[in-house]
Amino acid sequence: PRHFAIVPAAGSGSRMAAARPKQYLSLLGRPLIHHALSVLCAAPAIDAVFVVLSVDDTEWATHDWSALGPKLRPLFCGGATRADSVLGGLRAIAGEAAAGDWVLVHDAARPCLAPWHVDKLVRELAHDEVGGLLAVPVADTLKRADEHRHVCETVPRDSLWQAQTPQMFRYAMLRRALEGAREVTDEASAIEAAGLRPRLVQGDATNLKVTYPLDLHLAEWILENREG
Ligand code: C5P
Repeated sequence: PRHFAIVPAAGSGSRMAAARPKQYLSLLGRPLIHHALSVLCAAPAIDAVFVVLSVDDTEWATHDWSALGPKLRPLFCGGATRADSVLGGLRAIAGEAAAGDWVLVHDAARPCLAPWHVDKLVRELAHDEVGGLLAVPVADTLKRADEHRHVCETVPRDSLWQAQTPQMFRYAMLRRALEGAREVTDEASAIEAAGLRPRLVQGDATNLKVTYPLDLHLAEWILENREG
């Protein structure tokens, strides 16, 4: 099977309190999204990288993406939610993706994706029926609280993982799952809602999601201090 990456980048980034969508914030002199796209485009296992942009995106065309090579393919078909944007991308590539091809969905907001994250995910799931996702074991003790912030419960963390991306599933299965579950915040939830069980592949905390301004500083530090 072939491997296609889909990177939804049609969000507005409202939690960053920035004037522009976070995928375009500058990180070490490049748009934030450029970092992960460059790792995906360079991955030998990946055949094409589709970036799903908002229909009224005006910024994509103002940047130079030529260093990423011919695997990079922008699609202006973003939707109202992340799941809609991914589904838009899946529909747009229907002509070239076979049912059994793998799709790796990666957040535009995770710029510190490393080559080994992609390699490990692809290798460990190669013979899996369903597919799965990168994840890290939860390190903190978790509390569930009521609306007055009184603790009701300490949630045992031994079996808890934080979901990351990429999340890798078969084209037809992912499309069917997302068509049936539009409210989900990640692809794995849609697969679970369809009654299947995604597998967790252990990544690490460097693959962080940039949500708040502090995350941008952490991402910069991680990229600057990475070997190679
Ligand atoms: O907002 P959040 O950080 O959860 O967004 C996760 C990813 O989904 C980002 O890459 C964002 O650009 C993308 N997204 C999208 N279409 C939307 C909302 C979010 O592609 N309507």
